[in-house]
Order: sequence, then structure tokens, then C-alpha cells
Amino acid sequence: MSKKYVSIIDVKNHVGQEVTIGAWVANKSGKGKLAFLQLRDGTAFFQAVAFKPNFIEKFGEEVGLEKFNTIKKLSQETSVLVKGIVKEDERSKFGYELDVVDLEVVGESNEYPITPKEHGTDFLMDHRHLWLRSRKQHAIMLIRNELIRATYEFFNKEGFIKIDSPILTGSAPEGTTELFETDYFGQPAFLSQTGQLYAEAGAMALGKVFTFGPTFRAEKSKTRRHLTEFWMIEPEMAFVQHEESLDIQEAYIKFLIKAVLDNQGYALEVLERDRSLLEKYLKEPFKRVTYDDAIALLQEKAAENDYEPIEWGDDFGSPHETFVSNYYGVPTFIMNYPKAIKAFYMKPHPTRDDVVICADLIAPEGYGEIIGGSERATDYDYLKTKIAEFGLSEEEYGWYLDLRKYGSVPHSGFGLGLERMVTFVTGNEHIREAIPFPRMLHRLKP
Ligand code: 4AD
Ligand code: MG
Repeated sequence: MSKKYVSIIDVKNHVGQEVTIGAWVANKSGKGKLAFLQLRDGTAFFQAVAFKPNFIEKFGEEVGLEKFNTIKKLSQETSVLVKGIVKEDERSKFGYELDVVDLEVVGESNEYPITPKEHGTDFLMDHRHLWLRSRKQHAIMLIRNELIRATYEFFNKEGFIKIDSPILTGSAPEGTTELFETDYFGQPAFLSQTGQLYAEAGAMALGKVFTFGPTFRAEKSKTRRHLTEFWMIEPEMAFVQHEESLDIQEAYIKFLIKAVLDNQGYALEVLERDRSLLEKYLKEPFKRVTYDDAIALLQEKAAENDYEPIEWGDDFGSPHETFVSNYYGVPTFIMNYPKAIKAFYMKPHPTRDDVVICADLIAPEGYGEIIGGSERATDYDYLKTKIAEFGLSEEEYGWYLDLRKYGSVPHSGFGLGLERMVTFVTGNEHIREAIPFPRMLHRLKP
């Protein structure tokens, strides 16, 4: 493929050569005979330098001056074609810079709303379609993309088949309170909360599968961890039991962290993410504790901490999760939760009636639950009873029960919330920046 324009990320291969770059002016500075342009083209940011005498020598007094003045007047986010000679530049972070030989304006930009000064979050969210161009948001999107890329690499390497689950469904596997309902030709339909049940059907057909798609929860809560539309990666594995599933989850998360450390150094630097912490999570084994032990730990340490008191049977609030994972200092699996606070499809404990075989993976540093997973119930009658107990329609779940009727096997699976993982790896405070166009309680635009 012959390329007309060189990407900024590729200028390193053109040192000393004249290239043309299609870019936007992210910022501009300089005085007198010099103009410095911060250019961005989506692959990277770097600096171009225009020098007045150079323009006069090249184009003659009249045209040269006019060109130079155009450059000096370029406003933020003007799109340009810049021709120049690539130079190595040790002083800049990027390592290269461009000596401008010629410049052509492609699209003007007047009064770009996001200036280099500070803006409030609401303002930035209202301008999300433009905010995405900024250095920090660019870096977050590079990491999001890396996590998606590495996910496909990992599951491909491990022999998983990617299958796609439907988004319009008739069921509510993660509870009936957080559903987006829509009309499906006169019949109620729901936006999918999880692809899991379909992934289970897929695992019975293909062995090891994973789904990756948007999932929807009508969460009325306004927290820094919840979106109403988020993307989930859901592997499902036939003939795999709980312990082995935890091993796969740990290997997968470590693979993702390693991919980001290896391939997204620039983005981590822009985000000022502490690499040494990510390296620690890569090196050390994740912690595995039972729900019972986590409750005991929280009760024991309650006096010295200010989280709400907690009793066996309660679900964790985010301060509890933060305390437990920070206590161990590595991602922590909390295993075997009370049956009453978990989904209907989880495998009952073989010797205890009150808990199920499951685990949530809690990220340290306050990033919360990144994975929810379990071994699945395999017994037809047990599941049928559960479906009734949870107030779900047996008719709607008939197909799911079929999976236990025709060659039921032990199987396990889990779901990683992509945006939670992005937030954790980037060290970002709020989940809203982990997705290009977030959907939250009060946000449907842009
Ligand atoms: O724990 P959850 O609800 O589990 C499931 O949906 C299972 N069916 C997954 C499976 O076993 N196949 O959700 C899984 C993960 C959570 O750990 C969290 O990372 C993320 O999805 N998540 C959310 N992310 C952003 N906003 C929300 N409202 C989320 N709800 C869950
Ligand atoms: Mg969960």
C-alpha cells in the first residue's frame, strides 16, 4: 500500500527525509521568527517548528511571509497538511520533531470550545465528541484498544472461539430490577444484561468460547464505577471447574496488564500511572479468600476503619471491597458468596446450603470489582426450582434448561467489565472516561 501521508507515530522511520503529515493543531506557541505547532493525528502528538527565514528563502519575500503569517495565526484544532523534514530531538518526550517546509490549511477551526485552561466535568462531558481529542483521553483510548486487542490474542492463544450473543433478549438473568425494556413487535424485550446464558449454550457446542459486546443495566445509582451501557468480555468453558477458572482469570488479567506495560508505555506516561504497581500485580500471585474470611477480616478491623459495619449475608459496599483488596495489596478473589445475594445460575456448594461456588475479583487501589464469575449449576431440577424462586418465567428459560437436559457437564465462566479494567489500568478516578461515549443516569448525549 503506498501512503500519501506519514503518520506521526511513523516519523521515526523517516529521519532526515521530507514527509507530509495530515494533522490537527492541538496547540501553538512561539514568538518572533519562530512558531511551534503541537500537532496530533490520532497516532501521537509531536512538535513542528516553522522558521520565518526558511519560508522567505523558499517562497520569496511575498508568499513566504504570507505562509509564515498563516502558520502564526493557526487556531486550535485547525486541520492541516504539513510538509517538513523529520529531525531527531532529544529534548522532547516524543524524540522527534518536524522542521516545517510548507503548510496547507485543510479545515478551519474557530473558537474551539475546549481550550488549554481547566474546564468542569459537565462541560467536558457535554463536549465529549471533542474532548476525545485531548492528550489524556487519547491515552485512555489507546489503553482501551490495547485491552481489546490483547483479549482476542489471549483467548485465541488459549483455544477459545469468539461467539456473539444477542442484545435483544426476553430474559433477565442478572435480576429484574435493572432492565431496559423495549417493545418487540408488541411483545416486551430487554436489552441484554449479560451474554452469559448464550455463552453457556455456545460452550456446549464449541467447548471454550467468549463473547464480547455491550451490556445494559438500568442502574439508577450515580457512582464512579457504574455505567448503564458497558462492554463485557464473557468466557465460558465446558469441563472447567471453579479452581481452574480462577487460574484462567488470573492468567488473563496478567496477560492484559503485561500487554499494556509492554505496548502502551507512552499512554501510561501521559496518564502518570504508577508502573511499579502494575508490575507488582503482574509478578505476585492474586489473593484468594472466601466471603466468610473477608467478613471476618472486615469485622476484626472495623474499629480502626470507617466503613459501615457488616454482617454475614450482607453484600459488600465499595469501601469494604477497597479495604479487603488494599489489605492484600494485589487483585483479590472473594469466593463463595451467600446464595441469597448472587444470581440463580450459580453452582450450589457441595457441603453447605448457604453459599454458592463463585468469585468476584476485586482490584486494589479502590477500583472495585472487575470480574464476576462462577461455576454453573448443572442439575436440571435444581435450576428449575431456582428459576421459579427468582420469579423468572420457566417458559422464557426453557431453552437454557435444555442445556441441563441434553448432556449437562460441569462448566464455569466469568465476565470482565471492560471499562472497570480500563479505569483500573489507567489509574483513572471515574469510569466515565473509560468509554468513548458514556451512558449514565443523566447522560444520553453526545
Ligand atoms: O458481576 P456481573 O453482574 O456478572 C455477570 O453479568 C455475569 N453474567 C458474568 C459471567 O459470569 N459471565 O458483571 C460482570 C462485570 C463486573 O464484575 C463489572 O466489572 C462489570 O461487569 N459491571 C459493570 N461495569 C460498569 N458498569 C456497570 N453498571 C457494571 N455492572 C457490572
Ligand atoms: Mg458482580
